[in-house]
Amino acid sequence: MTGVTQKTLGRAADLLTIPEVVERARQTLSGDQWDYSCGGAESETTLRRNRTAFAELAFRPRVLMGAGQPDTSATFLGRLLALPVLLAPVGSIATFHPDGALACARVAADAGTGAFVGTLSHPALEVVRSGSTAPLFFQLYVYGDRGWLRDLVSRVEAAGYQGICVTVDVSAYGRRERDLHNRYFPRQSVERPNLGASTDVPGMVHRDAYNAALTWDDLAWLRGVTRLPLIVKGIMSSDDAAIAADHGVDVVYVSNHGGRQLDHALASIDVLPEVVSAVDGRAEVVLDSGIMRGSDVVKALALGARAVAIGKLMAWGLSAGGEAGLLRTLQLLQTEMATTLTNLGVRSVSELHPDLLRRVSPSAASAWPADL
Ligand SMILES: Cc1cc2nc3c(=O)[nH]c(=O)nc-3n(C[C@H](O)[C@H](O)[C@H](O)COP(=O)(O)O)c2cc1C
Repeated sequence: MTGVTQKTLGRAADLLTIPEVVERARQTLSGDQWDYSCGGAESETTLRRNRTAFAELAFRPRVLMGAGQPDTSATFLGRLLALPVLLAPVGSIATFHPDGALACARVAADAGTGAFVGTLSHPALEVVRSGSTAPLFFQLYVYGDRGWLRDLVSRVEAAGYQGICVTVDVSAYGRRERDLHNRYFPRQSVERPNLGASTDVPGMVHRDAYNAALTWDDLAWLRGVTRLPLIVKGIMSSDDAAIAADHGVDVVYVSNHGGRQLDHALASIDVLPEVVSAVDGRAEVVLDSGIMRGSDVVKALALGARAVAIGKLMAWGLSAGGEAGLLRTLQLLQTEMATTLTNLGVRSVSELHPDLLRRVSPSAASAWPADL
């Protein structure tokens, strides 16, 4: 992260650890916003399992490797990322920063990574694209017929995005019980400039109906209408990973939506090895859901992911200290990642491999945050 100084970071430079970032976010957000950011679907079993699964992977380091100062960079879709930690799509990102997706896109450029820009996010996708030099990927929710979709894809292409990411794990909006208890309805409260008013969407029945009706035929159609790299987000099995690769997608994005959608799902990190094996080099693999530490990033890369993404931690970084807070969060992740690589005896991401990990029974202490 060249050029990031104490001055760029301001008060966020005081944040010395990732738990401090999370604690400051918690103090800054209202109770409803905090619950919205950290909660999961129903019993929150998927949410917790995402963290436990990382704790069940222990390192098996090599010593006397002269690892020195490691290189944290990695290549994703032909671009070198100084830090292979992408910023995940968060439609309601304006809840956490007034500049919403634009703030994230700017920080991504400063940190040497890329960002996803949500269909539901604010400001308009063109404004975000023109305000950042980072690689940006437009995250698509399908809220209309193919004519609607073609228009949106044309807007994304004209704006100059580096890829299109279709989210396929929201056939029905997850029952986030914290929000239901709080009577907090985020979907009604934020502006959606990429979508327009719901009445403007031709043929729209209700928001989730089109997402719920999507099939692989629609993906094949989408593959045919755009030359942009295509990313499918929400893959959680080797079966679907193989079908996605057969459809010519460029990136298989392993995710359970951070535990916010299907309860009692597998942890994304537990699905990663079978996905990497099914894809067999035909597409790149990205993972999110539960990434909170540099060591989590290293584990995912060792199991074959090209990059990871952060959702909650991104929202918390922004809440803790605005753009500087998010930049500081990424810097802390990079420091943790570099420390982990060195102590593993690894000089660069390309030297990581699955044999550096062993599955163990979870230790409660390492599954931080155990309970938010
Ligand atoms: C507040 C919030 C809003 C989200 N909104 C979207 C969205 O609009 N589109 C999408 O594909 N994923 C959305 N996600 C899921 C993230 O993109 C990502 O998959 C998830 O947060 C990763 O897990 P993590 O939070 O444990 O890092 C959202 C997540 C959060 C926390």
